[in-house]
Amino acid sequence: MKRAYWFSMIAAVPLLTLGSLSFGDDDDDGVLKFWKKQPGIAPVINPLYKEECGSCHFAYQPGWLPEQSWRDMMSNLDSHFGDNAEVNPANHQAILDYLVNNSADKSDHRRSKKIMQSLGSLTAPQRITETGYFKHEHDEIPDSLVEKNDKVASLSHCNACHQDAEQGSFSEGNIKIPGHGKWDD
Ligand code: HEC
Ligand code: HEC
Repeated sequence: MKRAYWFSMIAAVPLLTLGSLSFGDDDDDGVLKFWKKQPGIAPVINPLYKEECGSCHFAYQPGWLPEQSWRDMMSNLDSHFGDNAEVNPANHQAILDYLVNNSADKSDHRRSKKIMQSLGSLTAPQRITETGYFKHEHDEIPDSLVEKNDKVASLSHCNACHQDAEQGSFSEGNIKIPGHGKWDD
């Protein structure tokens, strides 16, 4: 009896440690995968995508939306939120492939999984900002800091507030709202 008790104590220690490392929630850079740091969302690594889809706004990481969202968006680029965002046919296929292969439903990054879990009846949202996960994370920010703030204007401008958005890090410690300063709630 005594020996079994000690064995279970010793076995529990590494298990508990592992658990807290992989499921820690408030710091996306704290997530360890195979002992390497992994950002909350996979950063954009495709230069063509960055150039074509990052000229009007932040180049959103493909892991923010599921495959069907990107397919629908890419087939309607001539009327893209009131703009024409068409790209030439050769680039079109390459960008679509990149988006599909790295979409939220194929990514094992923590925030992509959260987006997928939050979709509910939305099968192919065209905005990250309309997903349940996004809305839940931003519902406490007053209008005066977003729409009524010239330096931000819209929640779609991720990198206006998230200092390390390009690196795929959106943790609360790296948020600065222009004209307001560090976010501490
Ligand atoms: C000609 C300018 C332009 C180009 C090029 C462009 N977009 Fe956009 N995009 C917009 C505008 C305008 C909006 C709406 C932004 C807003 O509401 O503040 C938008 C919004 C988006 C959103 C929704 C953001 C949210 O609110 O969650 C996504 C996703 C997106 N674009 C992806 C892309 C992709 C992928 C490409 C490349 C194929 C692309 N965009 C190229 C102008 C552009
Ligand atoms: C007006 C500034 C602002 C903009 C623009 C903005 N965010 Fe945020 N975001 C915040 C703030 C502030 C929080 C923390 C909210 C809280 O703690 O109540 C946050 C939280 C988050 C979180 C959760 C962080 C955590 O606690 O784990 C994610 C993920 C995120 N934002 C992604 C995005 C994405 C993607 C975009 C663009 C589509 C975006 N944000 C645009 C201010 C902004």
